[in-house]
Amino acid sequence: MFGLFKGKKVQEEERPVLKIIAKYEENGDPLGTTHAFVKEFIGPCPERYDMTYRYEHSLRVAAWGKRIAEGEGWNPEPLQMACLLHDVGYPECKSLEDFDHHPAFSADVAALFLKKIGYDEQLTESICKAIAIHDKWNDVPADATPFELSVRDADDLDRFDAMRICMLGRSDIGEKNTEELLELCAKRLDEVTSARKRICGTATAEGFWQEKCDMRQRFYEELRTQLEGTFKGL
Ligand SMILES: [Fe+2]
Ligand SMILES: [Fe+2]
Repeated sequence: MFGLFKGKKVQEEERPVLKIIAKYEENGDPLGTTHAFVKEFIGPCPERYDMTYRYEHSLRVAAWGKRIAEGEGWNPEPLQMACLLHDVGYPECKSLEDFDHHPAFSADVAALFLKKIGYDEQLTESICKAIAIHDKWNDVPADATPFELSVRDADDLDRFDAMRICMLGRSDIGEKNTEELLELCAKRLDEVTSARKRICGTATAEGFWQEKCDMRQRFYEELRTQLEGTFKGL
């Protein structure tokens, strides 16, 4: 059996996703089917925390997508599906350089999957475009629609949430003295200031984004206050 990958014919054995996609059919529940596919293809996997993280991150991004869609009065299903599929290209990446292009890999997998389950062609096109640009920060295409920008917004909302502070903390906090940690707080607070200027695709996402910036700013201000008190108790 052959499939297409980045314009080249490849054998199914070289690309396990083709065998997985082949099992899925149109069944009247596109969201549930998309979840089942994402779960099967990218995780969770006991030996691979990266896969487990990617799967659970995709679920959280889909939850943000639902909140954005509801806030905008849209049918949440296409955005939830796009969010679930936004990182499905990771298992296809063969090198670190590929990782930088994972949105294109993900859009390619999403297109194959959505076609296989008979999803609406126009929505499929928008979903794949949204996935392909989800790693852009400011340099988004001028013709991107609010829907197409919303996968990126949902992804960044999860990446800017409390869990990321914990994850950053592992490398940020380890083996640093108070002076170094105060420098780190200044750096993180500067990042929040510039992050606030990031343009969101919708007013709903913008509201959530500023809330996350507030949370992050409050955390690093609290940390700075705690550290400034280190030598003041004696
Ligand atoms: Fe991504
Ligand atoms: Fe992501």
